[in-house]
Amino acid sequence: MLETRTALGYASPSSEILILPEKLQARIIELAAQIDADYAGRNLIMICVLKGGVMFLTDLMRHTHIPHAIDFMAVSSYGVGARESTGVVRIIMDLATDISDKHVLLVEDIIDSGRTLGYLRDVLLARNPASLAICALLDKHERREVDVPLDYVGFEIPNEFVFGYGLDVDELYRNLPFIGVLRE
Ligand code: IMP
Ligand code: MG
Repeated sequence: MLETRTALGYASPSSEILILPEKLQARIIELAAQIDADYAGRNLIMICVLKGGVMFLTDLMRHTHIPHAIDFMAVSSYGVGARESTGVVRIIMDLATDISDKHVLLVEDIIDSGRTLGYLRDVLLARNPASLAICALLDKHERREVDVPLDYVGFEIPNEFVFGYGLDVDELYRNLPFIGVLRE
């Protein structure tokens, strides 16, 4: 893979920038304002799906003003090095918190086929939360195979492999402050 430098000065694979940092941040501020309004006075816990959701969660938390707890879950739906989910989702790390009677907001980097979020939704609903909503930064809508209700979506994006802002290319480039599209 050819490695270049972006106009922003970051080492990145050969790519185009799809969503600039300012645009990401502006949208996250809007999503946080919606979350503030929707969850005022409620016992909110944001659950981040590792590793891809971590940048999004931390920015979303920063802009959400109501009190809220956080917790993490790690799942694997890709084979090692693969770029499509296998359909078989495994929980690699479970929550530390009991979510029963809590208002849960599941925070994910991207929804593609919907298999990962569909599976996680079923797992979490079985634990009897007071409510469960889903917040995905990116939605590759045309790829959907499993219908999952989304409550908050950052951006609808085309059917292309994206990276940056938490999303990786073979575990690298999660640090980039923008969303890029591979051009190999
Ligand atoms: P799904 O189960 O097909 O919806 O895939 C969801 C998971 O696949 C996400 O949590 C991501 O980790 C990963 N994923 C899907 N599309 C991309 C992409 O374009 N770049 C990086 N990761 C992706
Ligand atoms: Mg993910």
